[in-house]
Amino acid sequence: MKSKEARKKVMKSLTKNDIDMISDQLLKQRGMDISGYSHSLVECQINQRLDDTNTITIPKYCEFLLFHPDEIDNLIDILIINVSHFFRDPLVFNYLSSKILPKLLLKKQSSQNNPLRIWSAGCSAGEEPFSLAMDIHKLVKNLYPGLTVNIFATDFDSHAIDKACEARYTNKGIDNVRFEYLKHFSQKTTTYTVKQNIKQLVDFSIYDLLDKRSFSPPQSLYGGFDIVLCRNVLIYYDTDSQNKILNKLYRSLNEDGFLILGETETPTRRFHDYFQKITRSCQIYIKNSTGDK
Ligand SMILES: C[S@@+](CC[C@H](N)C(=O)[O-])C[C@H]1O[C@@H](n2cnc3c(N)ncnc32)[C@H](O)[C@@H]1O
Repeated sequence: MKSKEARKKVMKSLTKNDIDMISDQLLKQRGMDISGYSHSLVECQINQRLDDTNTITIPKYCEFLLFHPDEIDNLIDILIINVSHFFRDPLVFNYLSSKILPKLLLKKQSSQNNPLRIWSAGCSAGEEPFSLAMDIHKLVKNLYPGLTVNIFATDFDSHAIDKACEARYTNKGIDNVRFEYLKHFSQKTTTYTVKQNIKQLVDFSIYDLLDKRSFSPPQSLYGGFDIVLCRNVLIYYDTDSQNKILNKLYRSLNEDGFLILGETETPTRRFHDYFQKITRSCQIYIKNSTGDK
């Protein structure tokens, strides 16, 4: 197996034309549109496929794609990066459960029957929404029994959503789970399945954040969200697509709602004034209701 260093040495710069040739294949064979992906991400992932298939050039790789029907799946797998784990960036979860959630829950309690609504956009196999559900379950059980919480979790990858609905993880997958939360999993040899009391807090569905037809997942019905998490999704897109996604997230948030991005992500320049950062330590923003986009 080649080391990262060795890969770097053979990394080829790809032209827009090279990438278009591959995009065409993806669109034709699987209807997958990668036109909004960042050039550097696609370049890096395609390089890996060139390397693994020993095809060296783009025309040769396209020929390989035609004669090896399974290769399109390998290419899709490498382009849809759904790495995730429970309590990823623990600071975010600490901040949420110590600062944001207690205030929001108190507000919900006093406004009577208003459910707390959260959207995990780009939820992969469910690790993020389930982590949140465990924290919320603890807070609600202790302080606000009876308060309704709806966590909507969406991803455009149907395989990821199937896995999320199964809610079954390996012991490696639950590495970051605190001891006190292990009670929320039933264990069978090396697999851990999330129990029903946590599962029922999360509603999974397939939804593409670049879908032009709606501003939030149809399953979430009407109403805005108090918190939207969209972590480690924007990094895969070019600025134009990031703007489209941020526009959707902005519109889906309630006034004073919170947006949470990944550790290395920030709103694009166009959206700087629409989200105000509230802590230095992580990418947590509050919606600035300065107008409609
Ligand atoms: C790296 S994972 C991040 C998962 C989780 N949010 C986290 O931070 O651990 C990115 C996820 O975003 C999903 N994704 C990428 N583009 C998307 C889009 N346009 N609409 C919905 N989901 C998308 C991918 O399928 C993948 O599951």
